[in-house]
Amino acid sequence: MDRSDAWQHTTVLLAEAIDSLLTTPDGVYVDGTFGRGGHSRALLARLSSRGRLIALDRDPQAVAAAAPITDPRFSIHHSRFGALAETLESLGVARIDGLLLDLGVSSPQIDDAARGFSFRFDGPLDMRMDPTRGESAAEFLARADERHIAEVIRDHGEERFAVPIAKALVARREGGNPVRTTRELSEVVARAVKTREGGQDPATRTFQGLRIHVNAELEELEQGLKAALTLLKPAGRLVVISFHSLEDRIVKSFIARESRTEVDRRAPFAPERPHRLRALARVKPGAAEVQANPRARSAVMRVAERTELA
Ligand SMILES: C[S@@+](CC[C@H](N)C(=O)[O-])C[C@H]1O[C@@H](n2cnc3c(N)ncnc32)[C@H](O)[C@@H]1O
Repeated sequence: MDRSDAWQHTTVLLAEAIDSLLTTPDGVYVDGTFGRGGHSRALLARLSSRGRLIALDRDPQAVAAAAPITDPRFSIHHSRFGALAETLESLGVARIDGLLLDLGVSSPQIDDAARGFSFRFDGPLDMRMDPTRGESAAEFLARADERHIAEVIRDHGEERFAVPIAKALVARREGGNPVRTTRELSEVVARAVKTREGGQDPATRTFQGLRIHVNAELEELEQGLKAALTLLKPAGRLVVISFHSLEDRIVKSFIARESRTEVDRRAPFAPERPHRLRALARVKPGAAEVQANPRARSAVMRVAERTELA
């Protein structure tokens, strides 16, 4: 068994996402988070011979995992959905019928100790979805000041012990022993965190905060959503699956903001800015899916439709 077969990803909300995304089998669709292609394969199975699916992933291993898909309607690109507009422009695609974003990391990423995403395994403290660029978590912790480290862990990890954790990390670094591995980080955090909700590892929130920061996940999401507005055809669909409240809040308020007709109160006679989206649904996995795949527990899918206007 090769490495890509060793770690499988169980796709979350598979049928629900495809049913929400597909408006015409002849359309052009984007899967912005190919992963191991669970959603992509299901969508391809429902497209006509005129349909097209453009998939992206920022992780070279995910891109490599798409090699067996030789369907001429499909293409895969090593790119970020935060750069969606540029990527589609380079492909000569101006408008699309649907965009799917299944956010976060895949099981093959978490389960590979060498990627440094998990406190459950010991490995280099990397956490980059795209290890070919940017700064790893260890490099960030080796250079950032205490305040910045604390902010990342507090704001992106929602960790109330962010300050003592950052202090402990900086003290260790100043002692000539910066954290380099996932186990070292977990040990530092476990000593600094005084109490934890039942069942949660003390390092959960710190790992989440660093991962979001290292991959600029929230900025990526904002850029991807913004691009969807200009790329989607009227009646085209935006489908986003989030796995924690920070992501879902961004998606929810984006859809709410773009679903409102805005009137400028200071210029009451100026034309209204018409709404560009219509919120269609908020979907949670059912009990059977959560039981079969515990990772689905925190998933929330939001669906919106591009209006004819603006
Ligand atoms: C939850 S998995 C997707 C699983 C996929 N839907 C499936 O069924 O196999 C998320 C994937 O999105 C990728 N990813 C996360 N953020 C990304 C971004 N900003 N741009 C492109 N890919 C991203 C990750 O590398 C990972 O492979």
